[in-house]
Amino acid sequence: MQTPVFGLKVVADKLPRLLRRLETTPTSIVALLDRHAAQVAEDPLRSALKQVGLPFHILPWTASETRKSTVELEKISRRLVRLGADRHSLMIGVGGGISTDMAGLVAAMYMRGIAWAAIPTTLLGMADAAIGGKTAVNLPEGKNLLGAFHLPKFVLADVALLRTLPAREWGCGLGEVVKSAMIASPALLRNLEQCPRVSLRRSGKHSLSLARAAARVKCRIVEQDPLEGGVRKLLNLGHTFGHALETAAGPRRLAHGEAVALGLHCAMHMAVAEGLASTTYAQRVFQILDRCGLPNAYPGKLPSVAELSRLIARDKKKTGATVDVILPVRAGHCRIEVGQRPRDLAEMIHQALAS
Ligand SMILES: NC(=O)c1ccc[n+]([C@@H]2O[C@H](COP(=O)([O-])OP(=O)(O)OC[C@H]3O[C@@H](n4cnc5c(N)ncnc54)[C@H](O)[C@@H]3O)[C@@H](O)[C@H]2O)c1
Ligand SMILES: [Zn+2]
Repeated sequence: MQTPVFGLKVVADKLPRLLRRLETTPTSIVALLDRHAAQVAEDPLRSALKQVGLPFHILPWTASETRKSTVELEKISRRLVRLGADRHSLMIGVGGGISTDMAGLVAAMYMRGIAWAAIPTTLLGMADAAIGGKTAVNLPEGKNLLGAFHLPKFVLADVALLRTLPAREWGCGLGEVVKSAMIASPALLRNLEQCPRVSLRRSGKHSLSLARAAARVKCRIVEQDPLEGGVRKLLNLGHTFGHALETAAGPRRLAHGEAVALGLHCAMHMAVAEGLASTTYAQRVFQILDRCGLPNAYPGKLPSVAELSRLIARDKKKTGATVDVILPVRAGHCRIEVGQRPRDLAEMIHQALAS
């Protein structure tokens, strides 16, 4: 897997080079561009594509979880046919995780698979979603249920594109950055502690180093376990608890990264309760989540244990009647606790968040 290319204001400069270095020159390029990212990304994208001199098309697209659907997948694929895209065309996803997931899945399926590349424009995309080759759309029955593993030829992360990112989206990205630090990077944890608070949510050298370090964690793990048979499960830290809370609260009250932050609280609480982690480490993690401006309490009345247990039991990553949960042990180290009962995990959420 290619290591993502990171930089500040690098699209116009690095994209042409990355395209020229592809082993097969594409016959044409189709870029799926998130409309909200277009304000910062369209000009550098267009000028880079012009420099390369290949036929290209930019498809503006409004990303949303409801539009991350099979209906849109078909519409975009049909646009590709009408634009004359062939087996040697290259797809580029430019946007947050929704757009790169969609572009990647279209590429995985179009004419039985064409090459693609990702230009993430959210912190979450740079640190997490654009990396690792998982692509998917949602079904009415649940998120990301229809997808494929399809690695992008390259990932180009230009932190300058984050300058229009809304505050809440910064929080979502930071939730995943803290997660990566807890899984495998004591240095990133220290960086999160030492970085000036205002710089945590601002496009610049600090966000560049945070996003790059988190992306490295994900790359290392995915390289060891591309198809999620073992160690890749670690990336699920905070997510078993987080997904249940996210579904219970709804996206308006709890965005994904905010729910992950609460999930990290719960996982930390459980690790201390089981004698696996020290309270000193837990306090450190709670302070980092706080400086990132992430929530430490559920918005409103916590759903009942029965309701949370039902939601945890629906977890996509469960095995039979039980769920594996990832617990943080010390800075940069976690362990996989297999065979947890959903009800016990729901009770843990109550212990961690009820106060
Ligand atoms: N494939 C994976 O491994 C993986 C991993 C994690 C998450 N995901 C997926 O990623 C999605 C979440 O990603 P996300 O948080 O990036 O969401 P997103 O794509 O919805 O982007 C968040 C919001 O920010 C807007 N936006 C994007 N870039 C912007 C910019 N530069 N300036 C202003 N606004 C901008 C988007 O239009 C959207 O409204 C989920 O669908 C999730 O399932 C995938
Ligand atoms: Zn996540």
